[in-house]
Amino acid sequence: MTTDSATGPQSALVTDTGLDAVTGAFSYSGRALASALTDSGRQVRTLTGHPNRATGESPIEIRPLDFDDQIGLVASLEGVTTLYNTYWVRFAHQRIDHDMAVENSRTLFQAARRAGVERIVHVSITHPSIDSPLPYFRGKALVERALAETGVSYAVLRPAILFGGDGVLLNNIAWLLRRLPVFAVGGRGDYRIRGIHVDDLAQLCLQKGTERFNSVSDAVGPERPTFVELVSSIRDAVESRSRLVHVPGAVLPLFSRIVGAALGDVLLTRDEYQAMAGGLADTEGPATGATALSDWLKDHGPILGRTYANELQRHFDITSGR
Ligand SMILES: NC(=O)c1ccc[n+]([C@@H]2O[C@H](COP(=O)([O-])OP(=O)(O)OC[C@H]3O[C@@H](n4cnc5c(N)ncnc54)[C@H](OP(=O)(O)O)[C@@H]3O)[C@@H](O)[C@H]2O)c1
Repeated sequence: MTTDSATGPQSALVTDTGLDAVTGAFSYSGRALASALTDSGRQVRTLTGHPNRATGESPIEIRPLDFDDQIGLVASLEGVTTLYNTYWVRFAHQRIDHDMAVENSRTLFQAARRAGVERIVHVSITHPSIDSPLPYFRGKALVERALAETGVSYAVLRPAILFGGDGVLLNNIAWLLRRLPVFAVGGRGDYRIRGIHVDDLAQLCLQKGTERFNSVSDAVGPERPTFVELVSSIRDAVESRSRLVHVPGAVLPLFSRIVGAALGDVLLTRDEYQAMAGGLADTEGPATGATALSDWLKDHGPILGRTYANELQRHFDITSGR
């Protein structure tokens, strides 16, 4: 399903304080967003669980992303014109799951409303569905609904997969291709993957930040290779000689769990594989981002996958209390 809808009249900007808030300015998409905002002359405040990741003389004001402190969240959002929300959890781990992430998102939206935030630009996922058996996609649909019920003007952007910057997924495919003699592809690998460059997503978010009507749009790039085509392109880009072998889709998550355990990480969950294989990382509509994944791969082959990007260390490390 391709989504591109706008509802309600465009309302005028009431007050522009020049200050916007971004969740996760030292993580992945939030970093690209914060950088695009500061480049465009906006002041940026971030809500984050990782304040220690700020580097050098960062112009970004830092506040905690603490969902247990509603009063603190409201205070952190006071004076903010637009909240750019990237908050979500990739998979359930330790004490956090998707149900909790839905509640946390609701808490954040309510705090934004109480603080007088004018606009929320929210990053979601392609094909969210209340009826999905996958908690990630069901949770995302519930968050979109909670956002619509908040009463603040909003835009939802739905990417399938992000690339560029210090993204995990393509980097770690490249890392595996550089090191292993074989790379396991689940099933025929003919499911399509429609990525968007993280900077294109950031620019789309900024554009949506200036609008004042409610909208829901896919955030997708111009190319939609099959998974096998994507892995083959990465293999060429990093000059790997790894052989692609097809394994039954049912056992791929087991392979992934074993390799992930060896790396002290979660490589790809069963749900993530099922979502990809079920076509949820693809859309057929027009591109909303310009960067071609194939061009980007050619340019970044020499550095892609040189170091492993560990998702558990990024988001569930002991020092952050998660
Ligand atoms: N990455 C992709 O390929 C992709 C594809 C499709 C859709 N999306 C969507 O895009 C949005 C941003 O994704 P992203 O990859 O850019 O995320 P991210 O930067 O890694 O994290 C985004 C925000 O969520 C917080 N967060 C992530 N995991 C958490 C955890 N376990 N506990 C508490 N907070 C956590 C981060 O906190 P900190 O500030 O403390 O780091 C950050 O504020 C999400 O809504 C995601 O569903 C991403």
